Amino acid sequence: MHGFVDALPKAELHIHIEGSFEPELMFGIARRNEISLPYADVDALRRAYAFTRLQDFLDLYYQGMSVLHTEQDFYDLAIAYFEKAASQNLRYAEVFFDPQGHTSRGVAFSTVIGGLTRAIADAELRFDLRAKLILCFLRHLDEADAERTLDEALPYREKFVGIGLDSSEIGFPPSKFRNVFRRARDEGFKIVCHAGEEGPPEYVWEALDILGADRIDHGNSALQDMDLVRRLAADKMPLTVCPLSNYRLCGVPELKVHPAKRMLDLGLFVTINSDDPAYFGGYVGDNFKAIAEHLPLSADELRMMARNGFLAGFMDDDDRARCL
Ligand code: HPA
Ligand code: ZN
Repeated sequence: MHGFVDALPKAELHIHIEGSFEPELMFGIARRNEISLPYADVDALRRAYAFTRLQDFLDLYYQGMSVLHTEQDFYDLAIAYFEKAASQNLRYAEVFFDPQGHTSRGVAFSTVIGGLTRAIADAELRFDLRAKLILCFLRHLDEADAERTLDEALPYREKFVGIGLDSSEIGFPPSKFRNVFRRARDEGFKIVCHAGEEGPPEYVWEALDILGADRIDHGNSALQDMDLVRRLAADKMPLTVCPLSNYRLCGVPELKVHPAKRMLDLGLFVTINSDDPAYFGGYVGDNFKAIAEHLPLSADELRMMARNGFLAGFMDDDDRARCL
């Protein structure tokens, strides 16, 4: 099975670049920037990665990214992700980044996007891996902050393909961001939205009907609402499912009850993704192996989910043919 998964060409559509920050690199960059982390060493930091819910993780995620300051820091972060993911046969990635996590600390938007786009160009040459960026708004901040972020990003509009919504979910419904997403859509961006990771099915409905989402990130709680399942299936709406993330954030008690198989049986369009691989214990290939090991999935189902990642990507058919 491992050989079969290794050989599958993969795409991933749900990876937060700041969530690929491995502790070794984090300590290295912190040292270079003369910043001290509140952990004695890499092992002590890894031991802190024991989460019971999304917010536990987010607290460490924002602390970790705070050592990133220079264009080179963002380049180093992204190229390390591309190298590792390419070793698991990743051919295509749509990569989330959280500009507000950086601009709020005084790092210029141009510094962030400059480092990330330089890494994307090098990843194509070095690893034959193609990637695009998706800018995410932080939903625990207000809509005005997201509006300012969109203003700041528009001069760089050629450098990203979509707009997403992430961070703390419960209490921050998609509808809170209806105006800024309308503007993003009018500007021609694809729309994605974290919904139904911890939040209720109503947030998935809002992502679809109010934000006009082209994909749903996670979507697990949709299974509590059969009308919503029928809607998602009828629309062939891609779900970017993240098995190890769900397990490590206690969304599922064990991988053997992960909903990926049930989603497929219900006719949903499932893709498999790593979310925050440095924090959740695995890159995209590791996520495929985890579900292949713990769920009764056939080879055809695994192959289909890998293919779905390419089909649901924001690329044209020529691009797709080059990746596959
Ligand atoms: N959920 C919500 N926001 C996030 C995540 C996640 O898994 N990772 C990074 N930001
Ligand atoms: Zn996510």
